[in-house]
Amino acid sequence: MLSVMNLSFVPLLLAVGALTLDSSKAEYDYFQYHPMEEISSWMAQMAKQYPDVVTIVDYGKSYENRTISLMRIGLKTDAKKKAIWMDCGIHAREWIAPAFCQYFVRQILQTYKTDAKMEAMVTNMDFYVTPVLNIDGYIFSWTNSSTRLWRKNRSPGPSGDCYGTDLNRNFDANWGTIGVSSDCNSNIYPGRGPISEPEAQAVTYFVGSRKEDFLCFLTIHSYGQLLLIPYGNPDFTASNYDELMKVGEEAAEAIWKVHGKKYRVGTSPAVLYPNSGSSRDWARMQDIPLTFTFELRDNGTYGFQLPQDEIQPTCEEAYSGALHIITYAHDKTFNGAAATAAALWTMLLVLGVNLM
Ligand SMILES: *[C@@H]1O[C@H](CO)[C@@H](O)[C@H](O)[C@H]1NC(C)=O
Ligand SMILES: *[C@@H]1O[C@H](CO)[C@@H](O)[C@H](O)[C@H]1NC(C)=O
Ligand SMILES: [Zn+2]
Repeated sequence: MLSVMNLSFVPLLLAVGALTLDSSKAEYDYFQYHPMEEISSWMAQMAKQYPDVVTIVDYGKSYENRTISLMRIGLKTDAKKKAIWMDCGIHAREWIAPAFCQYFVRQILQTYKTDAKMEAMVTNMDFYVTPVLNIDGYIFSWTNSSTRLWRKNRSPGPSGDCYGTDLNRNFDANWGTIGVSSDCNSNIYPGRGPISEPEAQAVTYFVGSRKEDFLCFLTIHSYGQLLLIPYGNPDFTASNYDELMKVGEEAAEAIWKVHGKKYRVGTSPAVLYPNSGSSRDWARMQDIPLTFTFELRDNGTYGFQLPQDEIQPTCEEAYSGALHIITYAHDKTFNGAAATAAALWTMLLVLGVNLM
């Protein structure tokens, strides 16, 4: 009797095993929001699936000692490569941002073998993508509905009865001068000093150690449908302001063409509000030429709680805008040189023909 019962369980166990296997093989759903542990296992999965192009790089620890990691995407070559930076989720509640970073990675991986332009870009450049920068805050925003709108990191303030520094006010870029509050309960508390926070330190040291490689620094936020250029402090103007505006306007046009959404382009004080200590401003001050903040959908209807059915169109249009900026950066550095070489070659040929 006992042995018969045991046997009857065997097919059931096998069926459960097969189901489990199947669900682990199922397509990752890019068009829903994922908690941190799912994003982490997705990162590991991508590195396993694309070992020739994807490398996980750990480059810091959060306040609560979680490892901050990025995905480096690019083909290995002997040449010295240029680089593109993208970070998402520096503000915890802006869930569409990590969703976009994951979509961005997927698009690169899906196209680099078939699209000649993308192949050239992953040959000449490495993409450094951090899907979630403010890991502690992101996890906190997933805890329950009362913490859903958490923005900052999770380090305690000076008095110990308040938490969180606004990481996008904590960078060493006119730190503490404008658009901040010294009250640590505030959402725009800039911290005890420039890069007092481990998350801001991680970006500062990693990017700073190879800043001459980076052509582009894109930091992804929501909401407002804006492309922001340096600087947040109205007393300063980027030396390449005209170029940033031109490339930004073209990117906004590329975004508009996908689903008809209007994105406005300008400095923070011109189109949003003045601020200081942002990572975008810091990156521009390191002489990285093309630095932009993306404020994704929407325009105030749902705000930070963008419905899941808007993830796909938001990612599609933002990808188009980001790709425009990245392609511009790439072509300025690489096609320029290639074009010059080709022109020289043609000239030599023509000269040769003439001499004969
Ligand atoms: C993080 O790790 C350090 C070193 O092990 C430890 O001193 C510190 O208390 C930890 N912080 C938290 C918030 O757990
Ligand atoms: C939405 O976008 C338009 C145009 O970019 C802007 O003028 C407006 O203030 C924004 N906000 C709302 C809530 O419509
Ligand atoms: Zn933000």
